[in-house]
Amino acid sequence: MSLVKSKSTSLLGLKGLSSEELTSILDRAAHWENKQDEILPTYQHKFISNMFFENSTRTRFSFEVAEKRLGAQVLNFDAATSSVQKGESIIDTVKTLEAMGVDVGIIRIKPTGVLQEVASKVNIPLINAGDGNHEHPTQALLDLYTMRKRFGSIKGLTVSIIGDILHSRVARSNLWALREMGAKVQFCAPINMQAPALSEYAAYVSMEQALQADVVMMLRVQLERHNTGMFTSSEQYREHYGLTVERAEQMQKHAIIMHPAPVNRDVEIDDPLVESKNSTIFEQISNGVPVRMAVIERALKI
Ligand code: CP
Repeated sequence: MSLVKSKSTSLLGLKGLSSEELTSILDRAAHWENKQDEILPTYQHKFISNMFFENSTRTRFSFEVAEKRLGAQVLNFDAATSSVQKGESIIDTVKTLEAMGVDVGIIRIKPTGVLQEVASKVNIPLINAGDGNHEHPTQALLDLYTMRKRFGSIKGLTVSIIGDILHSRVARSNLWALREMGAKVQFCAPINMQAPALSEYAAYVSMEQALQADVVMMLRVQLERHNTGMFTSSEQYREHYGLTVERAEQMQKHAIIMHPAPVNRDVEIDDPLVESKNSTIFEQISNGVPVRMAVIERALKI
């Protein structure tokens, strides 16, 4: 019996996905959101492995909850106690799990540009749970889902993404999907956190302009990806690019505050704003479960 599975339903990124494909995932997530009290037997014969080669709280547990809600068998791979510590490569690790009959792999890796290579060497669908500064497709999908719930439609929204654009896979996945869905994306970032390669897709605006958007999406300063000298101090960053309580007062009344989390409170966003009425930060986390159920279901349609 061959254990080789189709991988046509992989989700490596959102760049290139049509508005129809994106809408179909969001619609299916809405279906699953209405069934949050059920655990289904449909996928009880399916094995899903969560392979996180980089730390995570939200994405890893949200995938695990989604898998369990779908009734699938969950295999959690722990890089720290695995043969990665003996020098086994990411590709050989994924091939090993594939050889055991895993149906879908959820994968987060540190290096940018490696995921495509991994995907080309295995035959099971892979779902990108964040690769370097390249893409974080399920984060952007849950962000879009949250915006659609709040505003009814994504088309016509202006979305400001503020902060460490250069190192942000969240910014990239949101940029591709939001543009495809008819939103206008603009960036605001210190010069050394701007990504020149993206400037043809989104203009850089001042903090004052950024605050006039329908969606103000703050990004975490990703110190773990910085070269030395990029970040001088938390106080200076907050002063120039933080969403302070005073700055939030300039926002439109209907506008929402988003953040993928984890949050550096009082650096990129002031502590009282995290749980404020216009903040969707914890709603985004909740929406991650039905969105990931939809993405896993799509991967299992093989
Ligand atoms: N937003 C996000 O990816 O969080 P984690 O790193 O905790 O998964």
